[in-house]
Amino acid sequence: MNDMRVLERTVVSEAAKIKAEGVSVHYGSTQALKEVSVDILDRMVTAFIGPSGCGKSTFLRCLNRMNDTVASARVTGRITLDGEDIYAREVDPVQLRARVGMVFQKPNPFPKPIYDNVAYGPRIHGLVRGKAEMDALVEASLRRAALWDEVKDRLTSPGTGLSGGQQQRLCIARAIATSPEVLLMDEPCSALDPIATAQVEELIDELRSEFAVVIVTHSMQQAARVSQKTAFFHLGNLVEYGETGQIFTNPGDPRTESYISGRIG
Ligand SMILES: Nc1ncnc2c1ncn2[C@@H]1O[C@H](COP(=O)(O)OP(=O)(O)OP(=O)(O)O)[C@@H](O)[C@H]1O
Ligand SMILES: [Mg+2]
Repeated sequence: MNDMRVLERTVVSEAAKIKAEGVSVHYGSTQALKEVSVDILDRMVTAFIGPSGCGKSTFLRCLNRMNDTVASARVTGRITLDGEDIYAREVDPVQLRARVGMVFQKPNPFPKPIYDNVAYGPRIHGLVRGKAEMDALVEASLRRAALWDEVKDRLTSPGTGLSGGQQQRLCIARAIATSPEVLLMDEPCSALDPIATAQVEELIDELRSEFAVVIVTHSMQQAARVSQKTAFFHLGNLVEYGETGQIFTNPGDPRTESYISGRIG
């Protein structure tokens, strides 16, 4: 019996790409995240859901150390990527963010040509040799982000001149150009129309064949459509984590039930 339990635990941790243990975040003296422990599994989409202000973005930002850039934020606990502590002194956050990429709610292309937006990461990380290889990588990334056909004749125009939905797909192309191992997406579709949303959702489904994806969403339909695992947050606590189907049909906690049935949120 004991052996069985050990075995089970080993299997679970093997599939964990990221492991968070007792992660808390304070902004100044206010605690926004309380002792969150969860595994982010490889080659799956994990959805973070919960009412506004419950700490979803705060936790997401812990996973690639984006909170380092928030002066008042203090992160405690332990987060590992493939077993290695991402907050260890020797870890370079810039390198980490190439491995754990991020797409934000508001599209934020650089005020640079479309081509350079995508080439930026591979260039600074020295991932390609020569122009032909870079051209190929830029094209492949834009194709995977379902944007190539719309921009192939204007690669030298600024990324900021694209429509909102195109800008978001450009940001996705930029994030996947460095071949990340994990992609974090914070409400990536909230500024998009239904067609662009469907394109991004399809893309997310494709991306999970290659790496772990975490998506914060306010749309329960979206969480149900794109994710295999769901984590429900409430007032800084991770209340419940499990199979997406189970969370939406048979939640274990009354707070989850209230939220998914629209009573809180
Ligand atoms: N930079 C910051 N400085 C101070 N407090 C912050 C900061 N960012 C977030 N907070 C606070 O931390 C708590 C969690 O915020 P967070 O943005 O993580 O919530 P969220 O679940 O992503 O909400 P939403 O669904 O509205 O995006 C909130 O009370 C928020 O006001
Ligand atoms: Mg948020």
